Amino acid sequence: MSTPDARAVIDLDLPGPQISRHLYGHFAEHLGRCIYGGFWVGEDSDIPNEGGIRLDVVEALRGLSIPNLRWPGGCFADEYHWRDGIGPREQRPRMVNSHWGDVVEDNSFGTHEFMALCELLGAEPYVNGNVGSGTVREMSEWVEYLTRADDSPMAALRRANGRDEPWRVPFWGVGNEAWGCGGNMRAEAYADLARQYATFCRNHGGNELYRIAAGANVDDYEWTETLMKALGCIDCKGKPVFQAVSLHYYTVNGSWKDKGDATRFDVDDWYVTMLRARRVEELLRRHSTVMDRYDPYRKIGLVLDEWGTWWNVEEGTNPGFLYQQNSLRDALVASVHFDAFHRSAERLVMANIAQTVNVLQAMILTDPDPDSGALVLTPTYHVFEMNTGHHDARRLDVHLQDDSDPREVEGQPLELLSASASTKDGTALVSLSNLDADRPRSVLLDLRGMEVTGHRARVLTAPAIQAHNTPADPTAVAPAEHDGVQPHPRGLLVELPPHSYTTVSLDLAPLG
Ligand code: AHR
Repeated sequence: MSTPDARAVIDLDLPGPQISRHLYGHFAEHLGRCIYGGFWVGEDSDIPNEGGIRLDVVEALRGLSIPNLRWPGGCFADEYHWRDGIGPREQRPRMVNSHWGDVVEDNSFGTHEFMALCELLGAEPYVNGNVGSGTVREMSEWVEYLTRADDSPMAALRRANGRDEPWRVPFWGVGNEAWGCGGNMRAEAYADLARQYATFCRNHGGNELYRIAAGANVDDYEWTETLMKALGCIDCKGKPVFQAVSLHYYTVNGSWKDKGDATRFDVDDWYVTMLRARRVEELLRRHSTVMDRYDPYRKIGLVLDEWGTWWNVEEGTNPGFLYQQNSLRDALVASVHFDAFHRSAERLVMANIAQTVNVLQAMILTDPDPDSGALVLTPTYHVFEMNTGHHDARRLDVHLQDDSDPREVEGQPLELLSASASTKDGTALVSLSNLDADRPRSVLLDLRGMEVTGHRARVLTAPAIQAHNTPADPTAVAPAEHDGVQPHPRGLLVELPPHSYTTVSLDLAPLG
């Protein structure tokens, strides 16, 4: 038996914190073809739909057990006025979506349509309110409209619009990117507004809101610190005025001016992307460290409610629509993010990929022809699907010993293996990413503390790192059963092809 390249020691009987399913959350903004054409085609469309919502998209997304969906933005949230999106569609006012393509928005997808979408997906709604151009009253009334049961003015208005029962809305965003498109505010100014707006987002009946303040961009630790300070005494009597702070981090390959192409890239670009994707772990750790100083018992959550790759738009598409292809490289960006999320589960309570359909690092790309109905599942979709076993499982720490030297990229070391694991219901799931563009790697899973009574493995890879799915070749990158797993006296020996993502599922029993 040859010597493995690396060893991953896992104590199967020592489960750690829960990996919340909400780390696998999603984001749908009124941006390009995410809502219109992606989720929403309208009731008159030839594409099969329920009340205007495309059923093929819903069906595909059900395979991911989406835990929550953030809406309506993003930057759009801070110019959205929810009352424009209720009532008879033909009477809804129009507006200009000035952030995204400067197009006219007809508000045909509004509050009721979003809640119907969440119901179809089985996802919990995460509604992001407008601080930048809205009012405290407007946000407060939206909460009342959605969640109040009696005959209050907003509950009555909801009923007049055809919905008797209140909805359950667990997650509430208090503005978005207040440091930028959400109002270009200073941290102190926003922190005061966050306190004020959050105060008037009431818990109606049994609906308890989890209020998320608009957090930092990338490594702006001062922003996080200002929000934490603004909370005052977290352990004193009464609840903190907001319950979480957010963070946004996108993986770009070049600069913001020229972010690189989604599918035309070389091996050097691949490694730069992987280095930048792995940076998310440092950001999560350092923002958590700031939060620890004010909240040592971790009552306040960190929410990474925008993450993913951001490439140059596909040629010939509207630059404001952020439409990009999605290759095997995007899949590995996702898999290393999830490993980092699992390791950050003590503080990270939610994460939302940007965005679900047709925008940035999407799960699904639909044909722009409004009558076509064609769609493809992206490599990123498959990573989400392969990881559903981690939802609400308990983390198993993976002690990874890789004897190979890290690769130097942009003057920094890049580890080429990434791994994480979890356990639930008498099973365990191990995730293994081989970021080496050219070399296969063998990893010994050194499994301790439980008996492994069975195993299955799946692998996501393709001959080329640029491989991606198109209507003509929809399965160029798709998961397959992996036969590269051999029993070993210490556990299992797993062969990882170059540029691949592998999951190994284990059946467990107590040691005899
Ligand atoms: O996801 C696209 C945009 O990126 C969002 O609208 C904004 O919040 C961020 O800058």
